[in-house]
Amino acid sequence: MTMANLAQLSPGMTVRADTLHLAEVVSALSAALDMTDGQPVGHSARCCWIGMHVGERLGLETSELHDLFYMLFLKDLGCSSNAARICQLYATNDHEFKRNSKLMDQSLGQVLHFVATNTAVKSGLATKLKTILNIARNAGNITRDLIETRCERGAEIARTMRFPETVARGILDLDEHWDGRGHPLGRQQNDISLLARIALLAQVIDVFHITGGREAALSEVRRRAGTWFDPELVTLFERLAKDQSFWAVLEGQDIEARVFALEPATNRTPVDDDLLDDIADGFAQVVDAKSPFTSGHSKRVALYSDMIAEELGMEVSRKRWLVRGALLHDIGKLGISNEILDKAGKLDEDEWRAMKNHPVLGQHILSRIDTFSGIASIAMNHHEKLNGKGYPNGIGADVLDLETRIVTVADIFDALSADRPYRAAMATSKALSIMREEVGTGLDRDCFDALVSAIGRLENAKASAARETASAV
Ligand SMILES: [Fe+2]
Ligand SMILES: [Fe+2]
Repeated sequence: MTMANLAQLSPGMTVRADTLHLAEVVSALSAALDMTDGQPVGHSARCCWIGMHVGERLGLETSELHDLFYMLFLKDLGCSSNAARICQLYATNDHEFKRNSKLMDQSLGQVLHFVATNTAVKSGLATKLKTILNIARNAGNITRDLIETRCERGAEIARTMRFPETVARGILDLDEHWDGRGHPLGRQQNDISLLARIALLAQVIDVFHITGGREAALSEVRRRAGTWFDPELVTLFERLAKDQSFWAVLEGQDIEARVFALEPATNRTPVDDDLLDDIADGFAQVVDAKSPFTSGHSKRVALYSDMIAEELGMEVSRKRWLVRGALLHDIGKLGISNEILDKAGKLDEDEWRAMKNHPVLGQHILSRIDTFSGIASIAMNHHEKLNGKGYPNGIGADVLDLETRIVTVADIFDALSADRPYRAAMATSKALSIMREEVGTGLDRDCFDALVSAIGRLENAKASAARETASAV
């Protein structure tokens, strides 16, 4: 490894984590959740604006408002975990399905209409009928399972990111209804977390306000008072709805800046390196949960990147940013439908174009945080090649920094050595020999050699551990 190569440093890779503010990181990354849930840009921020006003009018304590603030931004943390199943069960685009499902209230008429119009939308009549019949037979269980997966996974990820149990419980209860007919547990009234009751109300207000305006939001909320919603919260919102400035900000362009100001100042949380690692880890779990075929991918790419950097002698704080970048390199895949991600056959031209856009989406999400510019550039360039034959921009060796070269090598190694929808996993030796053909033209030689040497060390260590175990028996 030459010092010149090791010195190639992407911007942002030496920034100290504690210059960041937690609300800034969480609100930026919540854009990825909006994408996964098929929601228009800014859904989480608008829900936060609505829910925090309800919470303030309810007279919540400062610490409760702090938890509410983060719960509103992270309410959809589990949204990727049922996307593949929705796609498989309903034979449809998961983003459109999720967006449309938020506009219905689960009354029988609406459910039947929804299933008929959102199921197997591109398929022939026979597939559509088969799919509808399957859903009709198992409707209750399917809905409960989908919501249970989403809520439990979301709560688990919030705990990974060290948010308090009240935040996790809020996410867990998000789809419970005041009358006990919600999911997954059918909790009723005050047994439902207060944060969840506020967040569900805020979510429905935003969805109906975006599609039909102020009156549509208000009348939908009134219609569901006592069934979906806590009637006290609905009364409170009716009063809030008379405040023109509340709507003006909700409909304005500077909503994010206004939402930041709602986080209780006394409870503002600075982000240290450990917390930032956990947040990157949590969002990597959201990405990895999106498709069964990429389960664990981001975590493994982070591990291989770490091993390569270790071999190259990279300095510890720089390596930490590299690992965060590797964890988040595919965050843009949250914006790609599982119809494409999980397709067993060859992608058609449009599908391939959509797939090739995931680095752009990833860069768009991550660059919303100034200090993430280094990892945003990894997300943007991890499919580029030294010879300029990669995507999305076809840039070459003169622009690709060391961090990106490392993640590219780690990414390809994992893609080859793990199962994919269209082929089984390859043996390590075969994966490495395929990659070797691209070394020097597409892939960085130093990074590839470092991967080979790190894997060699790992295999030697495994073999000697196995020998020790055998001799001890
Ligand atoms: Fe990728
Ligand atoms: Fe990847």
